[in-house]
Amino acid sequence: MNKVIKLHLHDRYPELGKGPVPVEPYISAPYFDKEQAKIFKKTWLHVGRVEEIPKAGDYFVKDLEACEASIIVVRDKAGCINAMHNVCSHRMNQIVYEKRGQARKFFCKFHGWAYDLEGKLTGVPEEESFFDLDKCDHGLTRVACDVWQGFIFINLDPNPALSLAEFMQPMFRDIEGYPFDKITTGFQWSTVVNCNWKLALDAFQEAYHVAYVHGRSIADAIDTAADGAMPPLDALCGEFHRRLSIAGNPKSVYGNPNAVTAGGAAAQQAIADSATAKPIAAAALRAGLGSATHQFRKEDLPKGMNWTGHDNWLFDINVVFPDFYLSLRPNYFQAYNFRPLSQGKTLLEARVYYPEMKTAGGRFYLEYMKVALRDVLLEDLSTLERTQSAVQTGVKKEMLLQDFELLVRHGAHVVDRIVNEETKA
Ligand code: FES
Ligand SMILES: [Fe+2]
Repeated sequence: MNKVIKLHLHDRYPELGKGPVPVEPYISAPYFDKEQAKIFKKTWLHVGRVEEIPKAGDYFVKDLEACEASIIVVRDKAGCINAMHNVCSHRMNQIVYEKRGQARKFFCKFHGWAYDLEGKLTGVPEEESFFDLDKCDHGLTRVACDVWQGFIFINLDPNPALSLAEFMQPMFRDIEGYPFDKITTGFQWSTVVNCNWKLALDAFQEAYHVAYVHGRSIADAIDTAADGAMPPLDALCGEFHRRLSIAGNPKSVYGNPNAVTAGGAAAQQAIADSATAKPIAAAALRAGLGSATHQFRKEDLPKGMNWTGHDNWLFDINVVFPDFYLSLRPNYFQAYNFRPLSQGKTLLEARVYYPEMKTAGGRFYLEYMKVALRDVLLEDLSTLERTQSAVQTGVKKEMLLQDFELLVRHGAHVVDRIVNEETKA
């Protein structure tokens, strides 16, 4: 007798359909041109966190190939964060060469024009030799910039259709208040992958692959049904963004969302159960227990996290349109960007944030997690370039998605809706 598979996630989103999804958007150069024009040059893009530029004059430069732009993000004397194009008003030299630093003013290295931290033009050598030059009219070109929960976003559209709050809050209002500001230490990697940005992001928006790609690393951390499936607890799809909630195995080191910060019986059980199968992981957790500078009880988290209220909730995947993956647990979070460099090339900027660890054991735990999560990331990356090459053979025109790959379908759907929508006159 055929087994009856209950499909339920897709049933709530009939507009997304259940049919095959075309792969042309992953390989077509004209499609990518439209993504650049209609998405990356028009929407809010995550570029960093406020803790990166704590003092007046602290800045970083973000080169955004998908927007054909280089953007200076700087904190001014009033404490505001400003973003402006890295283009001198005189003869267009880049104002800042360094990727991050501290400045009282920005001086162009070509002819010495000076700009303050708000981008105002304040000094022009041999000013009297110019013709009717009014410095007020020739500051650096400002870019829309705003902050949500400590995340800095910019928008290249001179008149953004939505404010950042209007963009974020329909899907993410109920996770506001997550202690991002207390989870500020950690590590980062970046790498260039030869695949389309959507193909890279897709590999992070479902747990269907975990039993296979991560079979030897973290598969034991995810809650598994009797048939071996790893069904998500729930999924939410909005106009732009999407979310997936995942249940874990609290007896594993990786699968215990309160490991290190909360400790207690669950952590002791994770250590005991991992002692044989994953002795180094168990040792790292034992060494790190009680070391975090902050503790976060699941009950104190914003209600939008673990929105199903499941006892074994492990983490939520949040995908902020278009390319920002934000995975949240009580004791750490991951902020990954899959930023296109071209149609078939993607820059992955991966950051993992933890609370500061105040003991040597805590530092050891952090070091262990750095390597463990790097291995997981390498496993995720291991399929991407092969998949891209295989898509480009043109042998298959469509991909087939199961119910638990709803977020992949939603991602394709939203991008396609925007790429193909009629430009309003
Ligand atoms: S190009 Fe910047 S001062 Fe001339
Ligand atoms: Fe993965």
